[in-house]
Amino acid sequence: MSQLNAPIVDPASVDAAIENRFCVRAFAPTPVPRQTVADILRVAARAPSGTNAQPWQVYVLQGASRAALVTQVCAAYDAGAADPQLAARYRAEYDYYPSQWIEPYLGRRRQNGWSLYGLLGIAKGDKDKMHAQHRRNYQFFDAPVGLIFTIHRVMGAGSLLDYGMFLQNVMVAARARGLHSCPQAAWNHYGSIILPHVGAGADEKLVCAMALGWPDEQAPVNGFETPREDVERFTRWLD
Ligand SMILES: Cc1cc2nc3c(=O)[nH]c(=O)nc-3n(C[C@H](O)[C@H](O)[C@H](O)COP(=O)(O)O)c2cc1C
Repeated sequence: MSQLNAPIVDPASVDAAIENRFCVRAFAPTPVPRQTVADILRVAARAPSGTNAQPWQVYVLQGASRAALVTQVCAAYDAGAADPQLAARYRAEYDYYPSQWIEPYLGRRRQNGWSLYGLLGIAKGDKDKMHAQHRRNYQFFDAPVGLIFTIHRVMGAGSLLDYGMFLQNVMVAARARGLHSCPQAAWNHYGSIILPHVGAGADEKLVCAMALGWPDEQAPVNGFETPREDVERFTRWLD
């Protein structure tokens, strides 16, 4: 059968996989079979990319390699909390966030942060608890699989657009298999530790990381629900 006529057997399942994706921030230790990760990456690589350049490069960390990276980055994060000058040495290689936030994004960002901290019982100004919660990023929220995504330095902003589609595919394909994920820009500060650890070449830069696994069903943090604007708020119809 040609691609054009290939049916989607259950169209609703496509929406369901997208709508049931959310960030899990507490995972069960159950390992994920290598073949499952490979299947997810194979499906995700069907993402479109300008001129089919397929700019993604993925490192799958499990077991000892994952544990060693967690140890190193947690130590760097802890040391940086005690010494701001040291923290400043760990810089992300590209700006994921704006240097100056404006509305409505600032308000949404604040709402997101305080709702999450509120759910976890972390009060404004409780630096120790905030540090501990942010540190969970560098443990992949206990997920057994840590994914590191890099891109060749020569690639431009358009390739990051392609990359986003690939990343979303990874997360949706994970849902189709009962797995959950959390994309993570928090790691981006630590490229100087991560890139040599995974054996990336000098021509690669870090895009982001992702935690992948099965959720800890008892963890309150996984009940965190995020709102979205109505379609009419971000759409103008021009007839
Ligand atoms: C590229 C990217 C990086 C992100 N980085 C982090 C991160 O470092 N830590 C984290 O807890 N969440 C991170 N998030 C998750 C967002 O906070 C989350 O997607 C948003 O609040 C919407 O919630 P939902 O994904 O549960 O629908 C990231 C999301 C994206 C797309």
